[in-house]
Amino acid sequence: MSTERPGWAPDDVDLDRPNAARVYDYLLGGSANFAKDREFAGRLLEIAPDAAKLARGNRAFLRRAVNYCLRHGIRQFLDIGSGIPTVGNVHEITQRTEPSARVVYVDVEPVAVAHTELMLAGNENAGVVRGELLEADELLGSEPVRRLLNLDEPVAVLMVSVLHFLGGNEPYGAVARYVDAMASGSYLVISHIAAEDSEEQSQARNLYQKDAVPIVGRTRAELAGFFAGMELVEPGVVWTPEWHPEASDVVVEPQLSRGLVAVGRKP
Ligand SMILES: C[S@@+](CC[C@H](N)C(=O)[O-])C[C@H]1O[C@@H](n2cnc3c(N)ncnc32)[C@H](O)[C@@H]1O
Repeated sequence: MSTERPGWAPDDVDLDRPNAARVYDYLLGGSANFAKDREFAGRLLEIAPDAAKLARGNRAFLRRAVNYCLRHGIRQFLDIGSGIPTVGNVHEITQRTEPSARVVYVDVEPVAVAHTELMLAGNENAGVVRGELLEADELLGSEPVRRLLNLDEPVAVLMVSVLHFLGGNEPYGAVARYVDAMASGSYLVISHIAAEDSEEQSQARNLYQKDAVPIVGRTRAELAGFFAGMELVEPGVVWTPEWHPEASDVVVEPQLSRGLVAVGRKP
């Protein structure tokens, strides 16, 4: 039997299958998720009890990286795989210090897009487009990108906790296309699940593979490969909590974050 569909859920959302965006929303304490997502998150938390803390650590990296870009003069942001709105969305971070900064959110998942549209109603400096990271040309040519971003000026492209949903070499070509389209002085921000052999990770990977979407961890070298043609900002590819840490962050032993991050600047 099908789960009851709330009024805000777009018609093309499959409520009978867990979805990575909505599982992540649940882990972060959000309410844009369904019974199947919560069941899945429950099983994930049995295998990886720190999953919610790690999701918050990833959001903290997003905040630090956006603030870094703002301090380095960036005033426009393209957030790909932006997820369901939650605490500390990019336009909230930017508009705190730079009200005129522009932000375009992109996600492939209809619930994420529907909630982002609601959140942005009346906001002239931010927009959202439903799109696929791998389709760089379509995304870069989309109406919100053309209306809000000027790619002749530096931009920050954020791919935070999204590339591990894309296996193989295909995402390398897509990321290169975004880097190509960026002006000199632009930034690329990535966080990514690390490749590791722990029992916990292999069980979590199997769970996603079976019920939601396959996840692929990458090594430091593989992550660095996304930054071809860019200069890595110090300290390079590191565990999530090690990138420009701030005193207010929840303390997690670096390796236990399970995530690698890096920021690159286009020369
Ligand atoms: C774990 S969430 C991350 C959300 C946010 N970036 C963050 O780090 O807090 C991953 C998001 O990427 C989206 N996503 C997955 N594959 C994608 C793709 N190929 N193109 C665009 N978005 C994608 C999912 O729908 C989900 O909302």
